Amino acid sequence: MKQDNLCILVIGQGGREHALVWKLGASPRVSKVYAAPGNPGMEGLAKCVPIPANDLHQLACFALENHVDLAVIGPEAPLALGASDEFMRLGIPVFGPTKAAASIETSKVWAKQFMTRHRIPTADYRIFRDPEAAKRYVRAHGGPVVVKADGLAAGKGVVVAHTLDEGEQAVDIVANLTAGREIIVEDCLFGREASFLVITDGISAIPLVSAKDHKRAKDGDRGPNTGGMGAVVPAPGFDFSLQTQIMDDIIMPVIRGLSSEGHRYVGVLYAGLMLTSQGPMVLEFNARFGDPETQAILPMMESDLVDALEAAVEGTCSSITLDWRDGACVCVVAASCGYPEQPRLGKEIFIDEEQAEKDGVLIFHAGTRLDGERLVTAGGRVLNAVSVGSSMEEAASRAYRGLSHVSFEGMWVRHDIGRPGACRIQERRA
Ligand code: AMP
Ligand code: GLY
Repeated sequence: MKQDNLCILVIGQGGREHALVWKLGASPRVSKVYAAPGNPGMEGLAKCVPIPANDLHQLACFALENHVDLAVIGPEAPLALGASDEFMRLGIPVFGPTKAAASIETSKVWAKQFMTRHRIPTADYRIFRDPEAAKRYVRAHGGPVVVKADGLAAGKGVVVAHTLDEGEQAVDIVANLTAGREIIVEDCLFGREASFLVITDGISAIPLVSAKDHKRAKDGDRGPNTGGMGAVVPAPGFDFSLQTQIMDDIIMPVIRGLSSEGHRYVGVLYAGLMLTSQGPMVLEFNARFGDPETQAILPMMESDLVDALEAAVEGTCSSITLDWRDGACVCVVAASCGYPEQPRLGKEIFIDEEQAEKDGVLIFHAGTRLDGERLVTAGGRVLNAVSVGSSMEEAASRAYRGLSHVSFEGMWVRHDIGRPGACRIQERRA
């Protein structure tokens, strides 16, 4: 029988974790939510405890002392450090893969070789230690290539190069970033991108609604890469038959492949996909909920998220289906002046929460902190304005209207999230 009065610990402090706290706290089965370290937007929904997300020992001690029934790990860094392993060692139920299984995100080389072993559709690639050898390959290859650093690089380790010169420069950029580590050079794929996430117990998988994030700083998916300037649900161009194909050709083979290699993968498996003319192909995997996709996915979920997370931990995902609202959801990120290069921090933030609520807009905090009584900016991506609607157009209008109730000096947003022309389709240049 299902347990009630659950006590949940959410690890992390961004917009994704605020959305998780909001959704988990709404469950009638949950009586207490802790967030470590959390952010000021979570106050009232969760008790924030000042333990950094990477302090595994303190987190585990806190969970034991406070009788946490389920720990939910938001970001990749604690997973890479082995947070799940530590919780499991102490017998604390945890949602998030082990350090070894999280290699699917933390090492791009490991992920590519895994995909080859299990015939998962992805771009052809070569791996190099020597940057000069990588450049010779780029020249011999001739076509557009994508150069990737191994390991976590906070979104900076991937360069798409359309010409030979760009390709060689890309090798230098990536080699400088990760001196001595391996470099991947892969074929450039063409099409639309989409994010597809499942919750899995390592045997079966519960699909979430498709999403599309917008990583580029400028309208039309142009300009420098960021941590994500917005997200929409569903992903443009996505339908049920595509979902079935992705489950059959990508998600389930990955879960079975991980299992056959000794990894019972518990958590979110996030596939970053290119929808090519030859079918969906994997750009990357993440071992966690996406940010900002999660801020747009969870408001669409009618079911209780706790049931799904618990099923993943208990190995009963095959008995769960999730219900979703019709329509669409749009998340727009409000960023600090100077982001992504050098965000200016410490600017006072004003939020008219009453008006935002009246307009049906959720404001999820990301880079915010309290300075005495004042709420100030503490990161490049500061707030997320999120709204559902019966159509993408309606959801976008509401989310943008919601942003008018938020302000801080230097605040900027993309203006096209959820609107026509926002998605640049990766096309072969003439
Ligand atoms: P990743 O971190 O591997 O997902 O790469 C970040 C971004 O680089 C993706 O969202 C794509 O826009 C782009 N990208 C990565 N790999 C490829 C590829 N093989 N072909 C085209 N674009 C790619
Ligand atoms: N939205 C991309 C990520 O979460 O990595």
